Amino acid sequence: MANHTILSGGNAGGIGEYKMKIGILTGGGDAPGLNAVLRAIIRKGLLNYGYEIVGIEDGWKGLIEGNFMPLNMKSLVGLLAKGGTILGTSRTNPFKSEDGAKKILKNVSEQGIDAVIAIGGDDTLGVASKLCDMGLPVVGVPKTIDNDLVGTDYTFGFQTAVSIACEAIERLRTTAESHHRVMILEVMGRNSGWIALESGIAGGANAILIPEKPFDIDEVCEFINKRQKRGRNFSIIVAAEGAKPKGEAEFVYASGVDEFGHERLGGVASYIGKEIEKRFKNIETRTVVLGHIQRGGPPIPYDRVLATRFGIAAIDLVHDGKFGQMVALQGNAMVSIPLKDIIGKRKTVDSKLYDVAATFFG
Ligand code: F6P
Repeated sequence: MANHTILSGGNAGGIGEYKMKIGILTGGGDAPGLNAVLRAIIRKGLLNYGYEIVGIEDGWKGLIEGNFMPLNMKSLVGLLAKGGTILGTSRTNPFKSEDGAKKILKNVSEQGIDAVIAIGGDDTLGVASKLCDMGLPVVGVPKTIDNDLVGTDYTFGFQTAVSIACEAIERLRTTAESHHRVMILEVMGRNSGWIALESGIAGGANAILIPEKPFDIDEVCEFINKRQKRGRNFSIIVAAEGAKPKGEAEFVYASGVDEFGHERLGGVASYIGKEIEKRFKNIETRTVVLGHIQRGGPPIPYDRVLATRFGIAAIDLVHDGKFGQMVALQGNAMVSIPLKDIIGKRKTVDSKLYDVAATFFG
């Protein structure tokens, strides 16, 4: 277990004479539940702690360029179930430009912002950690549909993505069965297989391909073969976008990288579909890339609850002056852990969970 502090649950403190001003930003890819986090922070910050809360537009970009929006009780209306982020987001890395970080510190000081709550994944929180070292009081909230952040059992948005992918599998099954086809569903997750694994288990996939276990296409075909021998003339394969054949690299959709060095992944489903058709003359395949459908729209209740707990815990950390920390879920406890402990690491899938899934392959 990482070095962590159990959070008290946040008793409202008295409102001092000085009114603290808290900035909030959302960075990286959006995730269902972002607005629910904002709602919790704003409500407790305004009503319990008497803070002034300001929204920073489009992640770190807004803090570099000085783009802010006031947030008040009216801003909260309808936020719990709303997808996306009302603050906007970007994949801007302030450390990519010479004076990005300097501009941030200048804008923070000019705006009279006392602390920043950064809601994001490894990239956004990595920037938060560096800025904290430079003197910015910052608290982090873990967000990503990929569920690949270490230190927290779950990030919000992940279970919504799993639920959408699971529904996609169920819908694909009836058409696959009717046409006796092999359907390959490509899901997000970057270099982690969490979405593929959990949605594949929940949806009853016949094979699940994840980045953590490079695949052999002949083995995948053997699963289809086994099913055919049992009279099952259709199959569903779930492939994480980062899944790759043994000894090869991930499939990339477009050349180039973003400001944090990430490639745009995509194409594994198409590769698998074509390879299967080459090997089985009597089988047709179809591929579906679920894409941003699994990231857009309202969060499921689990993510609304988790996001709300994270938001409350984050504003409590600010109130307690515990900066350089990230809120996290461990077991069912809300805890806080140093940002430094999680940056640059990736939570890969649980190999025992993969073994559970593998029992149902073929
Ligand atoms: O990190 C979240 C994520 O949805 C990944 O699963 C995916 O690879 C990436 O973001 C896509 O990013 P974008 O929306 O910038 O294409």
